[in-house]
Amino acid sequence: MDKYVINGGKKLYGTVSISGAKNAAVAIIPAVVLCDEPCVIENLPKIRDVSVILEILKTMGAKVTRIGGDDARVKIDPRGIKSSKVTCEKLVGDMRASYYLLGALLGRFGSASVPASGGCSFCDRPIDLHIKAFKALGAKCDLLPDKVVLSSEALVGNDIDFDVVSVGATMNAMLAAVRAPGKTVITGAAKEPHVVDLANFLNKMGAKVRGAGTDVIKIKGVSELTGCTYGIIPDQIEAGTYMAAVAAAGGDVTITGVIPKHLESITNKLRDTGTTVEEFDEAVRIVREGELTCCNVKTTPHPGFPTDMQPQFVALLSGANGKSRVTESVWEARFSYIPQLRKMGADIIENGSTAHVDGVNDLHGAKVRALDLRAGAAMVVAGLAAKGTTEIADIKYIERGYEQIVEKLTAIGADIRRVTYVESSEDD
Ligand code: UD1
Repeated sequence: MDKYVINGGKKLYGTVSISGAKNAAVAIIPAVVLCDEPCVIENLPKIRDVSVILEILKTMGAKVTRIGGDDARVKIDPRGIKSSKVTCEKLVGDMRASYYLLGALLGRFGSASVPASGGCSFCDRPIDLHIKAFKALGAKCDLLPDKVVLSSEALVGNDIDFDVVSVGATMNAMLAAVRAPGKTVITGAAKEPHVVDLANFLNKMGAKVRGAGTDVIKIKGVSELTGCTYGIIPDQIEAGTYMAAVAAAGGDVTITGVIPKHLESITNKLRDTGTTVEEFDEAVRIVREGELTCCNVKTTPHPGFPTDMQPQFVALLSGANGKSRVTESVWEARFSYIPQLRKMGADIIENGSTAHVDGVNDLHGAKVRALDLRAGAAMVVAGLAAKGTTEIADIKYIERGYEQIVEKLTAIGADIRRVTYVESSEDD
């Protein structure tokens, strides 16, 4: 087993470049199933979730070829996929976003059978809104204990209204609707950058999707989709995590290959902490020299502050002067990592959906665990800021979503190593 060992308390200087967006990639790759020809996807992040979804497509009959030996550029030929039944339970169970196979296969074949999806289990993650969308388009849905089975005579465009904003349900509704004859209108749609990226990819294949990025998405069904080359947007959350890391540890780092507009809510909150954020066309520069100031944060769907940055900000505010309030309004109880931060000296009290963080100036290294992807990122942020040595176990979660995190942090002066170890009972 591997862990990260961080000798913290060192300021960070230099440049970090951001990879393609995980949450766009894990939807765009299954979306290729809808196409009648091969597609080339560029700027793919080299992370475990992308390898897993590509592997799933291969087991279904797709041909996946790396272009120029580069994992970031892949040609996917979906023509060998002849069945809408996915059987590789283990791979599907390894990632949450495998639910996008439901929408993509339903849109392509009018049916789907997909094993239960897994992924980060920071709380209960329902799919009732996905099912509501599939039913609105004319599908019959059977939720069995180990799989979801969808069938239909013929899908037809329809109105789909979401009363809760859901990224996954919005994207699955788009996948299922792009080839359904007639008009689909999705109201209460999610507006995240990856929703827009999926719409742009579908349109590049010839779909007619309008309004992505607003809360009303209109789709006119088309009968075929053609192959294209498409580059994935930069990862908003990877960029935000490095922004938080530099603010927490101090220093002066330029983060390149980003879309600053996607980072606005994070930028604004960092400025509240006294961190300087300078914006360029495709980069942001983070400078933190003085002390950090407390601030209040509330997560909301885009363009609000992203829930996937909440744990990293709690880690950051653990070392800020004064009392911060961090309220989680997207997921219930996404605070299971807080006891891990307490091991490092953080003073945090959880009260329902709010974490009350009383900043301390002596965060210290400890042995902690990455309980899920973003909780793991929070441990890295805290470990970089803390004095002494932090050991983070269960890094497999972190590596689901962060490309070469050790190399990228080392390049800006962090003392972080990936170390192989044998787990003992003392490690808890
Ligand atoms: C996606 C992201 C995840 C992020 C989340 C919110 C991917 C692969 N994952 O997850 O990192 O934290 O968006 O930005 O893109 N809900 C329902 N019924 C449903 C679906 C969702 O009630 O059928 C609720 C959830 O319980 C949650 C809220 O809607 O409270 C938002 O969830 P959703 O946007 O669907 O999250 P995911 O798409 O699964």
